[in-house]
Amino acid sequence: MTPIYSSMLDRREILLAGASLATTASVLRAAPAPESPIKQFKLIAAPSRQSIIGAHGPDTDVWSYGSNVPGPELRVRQGDRIQVQVENRLPEETTVHWHGLRVPNAMDGVAHITQKPIGPGETFTYEFDCLDAGTFWYHPHHHSSAQVARGLYGALIVDERNPIAVDRDITWVLSDWRLQKDASIKNDFNNLHDVGHNGRIGNTVTVNGRIPGNFDVRAGERIRLRLINAANARIFGLEFEGHTAQVIAIDGHPVEPHAPANNRIVLGPAMRADILLDLRGQPGKRYRVVDAFYRHREYKLLDLAYSDAAQLRDLADAKPIRLPANPLSEPDLENAERHDIMLGGGMMGGMISAIMDGQRTNMRTLMHNGLLWSINGVAAKGHILDPFLTLKRNQSCRLTLINDTAWHHPMHLHGHVFRVIARNGQPTRRSEWQDTVMMDPRERVEIAFVADNPGDWMFHCHILEHQSGGMFGLIRVI
Ligand code: C2O
Ligand code: CU
Repeated sequence: MTPIYSSMLDRREILLAGASLATTASVLRAAPAPESPIKQFKLIAAPSRQSIIGAHGPDTDVWSYGSNVPGPELRVRQGDRIQVQVENRLPEETTVHWHGLRVPNAMDGVAHITQKPIGPGETFTYEFDCLDAGTFWYHPHHHSSAQVARGLYGALIVDERNPIAVDRDITWVLSDWRLQKDASIKNDFNNLHDVGHNGRIGNTVTVNGRIPGNFDVRAGERIRLRLINAANARIFGLEFEGHTAQVIAIDGHPVEPHAPANNRIVLGPAMRADILLDLRGQPGKRYRVVDAFYRHREYKLLDLAYSDAAQLRDLADAKPIRLPANPLSEPDLENAERHDIMLGGGMMGGMISAIMDGQRTNMRTLMHNGLLWSINGVAAKGHILDPFLTLKRNQSCRLTLINDTAWHHPMHLHGHVFRVIARNGQPTRRSEWQDTVMMDPRERVEIAFVADNPGDWMFHCHILEHQSGGMFGLIRVI
């Protein structure tokens, strides 16, 4: 157990912490003292009730950070050191993982691998430097498929050292829920059907924890919109009708500004996109934002509702904004070590056996254990894991991920950011830096990075049901 740094909390925080004990749960947005070198926050994970479907229906019992879904947006500046005290008031153990942030291994929040889970009533303090600017998020890394589906997630925004010129900086945390008629969360987590197919796709899509209404805008505005896919399994494919959204960052990291292919922003679970939205529509009009990812299942997410106000400015020759690069090590592609990583399993995948607990195991036994997926032939289970790959520190490395399944997989590597350098043998146009890469069925994707962060790092599918169904492993950097 890490000690609670209560001596470092100021008096106001302690008073608030005391006061919050009386309520079901509460969060402290510890306003960091300006002279303080460390920005402190407190997160309380606890059950709460939320009006997800709106006033016309019952509230939903959820688990949340700070009595709200999503949890509080933690906001710091690049180069800041952040300290987050996490108190667990849930009925079970938990952890917090800082998705996409290059943190020291002990701060990565992976239960049983980088830390002992935080027991009910216990507190754990995370502390690390925010090396990269960008849009990140946090969520549990323990029983994730149930804990995230119940509402435990929030945004972590690291501002650039110099702010960019936009009228508004907005975060949309996208997610979905599987609700029953009485608006309660269906508790069929990790059922074999979800595990073997495309995961727990919910029936109620929310933006910032609510069924979205209109998003009010004004003609001539320029908005930085930070999209975060916090869903367990749903892939979003957002189209802004009548607008051209410019993607300026992916997974937090700057990318050459571009309109996405087919004007659709595709975000697998855990992925983020920062887009520059120039509001060139007509005052008084509405424009739909639709999610068209799943064929024949297109739906309207919300309307961009223009006020009648006159155009704020003429955007005719507004230039795209280029964000400054993050300090990432450039992989040496020529001298990189190469490895193949084979993803197998799932329904219609033809997996007949896999290694479980070190033994060749048939499908029936695997299914008994809830396992339907494998990485390099191993269906991972439990927490005592041997790494499937060991890399020398500072080694450049090229991994070819081979999706030998009939399903999409957003594959995530902890502790590092990689370049996506090729898809199906073709070099990518922008070699995007990402921490999670969406793979189409049967696709081969090549990624490259420098293994510069020592420790045991999770590599897994971020469709959380696939992860719990065996699609994870460890990459060790020594
Ligand atoms: Cu978003 Cu292994 O995590
Ligand atoms: Cu997957």
